[in-house]
Amino acid sequence: MADNTAVGWIGLGKMGVPMAGHLLDAGFALTVHNRSAGPEAGLRDAGAEIAASPAELAAKAAVIVSMISDDAALADVTDGENGIFTAAAPGTLYIDMSTVSPDASARVAARATECGIGYLRAPVSGGVALAVTGTITVLASGARADFERAEPVFTAMAKKSFYVGAGEEARYIKLALNMMVGMTVALMSEAVVFAERGGVARDTILDVMGESAIASPLVGYKLEPLRQRDFSPTFSTRQMAKDFDLVLGAARQTETPLPLAAFVRQMWSSMIANGAGDEDFLAYVKTMETLSGMKAKD
Ligand SMILES: NC(=O)c1ccc[n+]([C@@H]2O[C@H](COP(=O)([O-])OP(=O)(O)OC[C@H]3O[C@@H](n4cnc5c(N)ncnc54)[C@H](OP(=O)(O)O)[C@@H]3O)[C@@H](O)[C@H]2O)c1
Repeated sequence: MADNTAVGWIGLGKMGVPMAGHLLDAGFALTVHNRSAGPEAGLRDAGAEIAASPAELAAKAAVIVSMISDDAALADVTDGENGIFTAAAPGTLYIDMSTVSPDASARVAARATECGIGYLRAPVSGGVALAVTGTITVLASGARADFERAEPVFTAMAKKSFYVGAGEEARYIKLALNMMVGMTVALMSEAVVFAERGGVARDTILDVMGESAIASPLVGYKLEPLRQRDFSPTFSTRQMAKDFDLVLGAARQTETPLPLAAFVRQMWSSMIANGAGDEDFLAYVKTMETLSGMKAKD
C-alpha cells in the first residue's frame, strides 16, 4: 500500500481548493476529485493528479480527505455507487473535514469499521480567509492512533489541531461553534441597526465595536464587510441554515432546548425566501434594516 504521503482529496469548493493546495505545497502526493469539472484546474497545474470518481481516488490513496457540503454529499462520496468504501483498501485512513450531523457521521463510522478503514471526524473552525492562509483550526475525534497518523496532514493546512475524543465529539463541538458564529452576526446586525436608528453613523459604531470588550476575531473579520456592504459569500446564508438545522436536529435527540438558535434559524429562512440564500450570512443586517423600516441601501 502507498505510504501516508499519498493523499486523495474529495471536494474542491471554497474551502477545499485552498486546503488541498497546502497539501501540495507541503509535498504530499495529491490526487483530487470534485463532482463537477472545473475547480480542479489550478491544482492540476500545480501538480495534483485527477481522479474521475471517489472510488478511483480511493484505490490510489493511503489517506483520503473529504471537504464537501453536507450529509447527502457525505453519503454519496462514501457509500454511493462510486463511493470510497467500494474501493479503499483495509488500512486506509478516511478523514472527513466537512460540517455534517453526528448521525450521518456515525453511519460512516460503522461502515468504515466494516470495511477495515480508519475514520477520523475532523471538521474545521475558520472560514475561507483562514483556509487560504493555512490557519484554520481542526477539531478531530476518532481513534487516537488515527489522529496521530493524520497530524502531518493537519499541520500542513492548520494552525492548530485538537484531539477531542473517540466518537462524534468533534461534530458536536463544530456545531456548537457555528451556532455561536451565526448568533454573533445576528447580534452585530441588531446592534448596528439599533445604533444607526439612534443617529449613530455606521462607521462610528463599527469602529467602537472593533475596539470594545465584545470584540473577538469573528467580530473583527465581519467589520470591514459590514462597512463596505460586501455580502459576497465566504459562508452563505444557505450554508448557515444547514448548520443550524444540524444543531437543532442533534439537540432534539438529547432534548436540549436551544431557544435562541431556534429563533435565529427562522431568520435564515426569511433571508433565503427573500433572495439572500447565496449571499454571505452577514446579509442578516439587511433583514434587520428592512424590519426597522430603514431605506434600502442596495
Ligand atoms: N466556507 C466556510 O467558511 C466554511 C468554514 C468551515 C466549515 N465549512 C464547511 O465545509 C464544508 C465545505 O464548505 P465550502 O464552503 O467549501 O462549500 P462549497 O464551496 O459549497 O463546496 C462544496 C463542495 O462539496 C461538493 N459536493 C456537494 N454535494 C456533493 C455530492 N452529493 N457529492 C459529491 N460532492 C458534493 C461540491 O461539488 P460541486 O463543485 O460539484 O458542487 C463542492 O466541491 C461544508 O460542510 C461547510 O459547512 C465551511
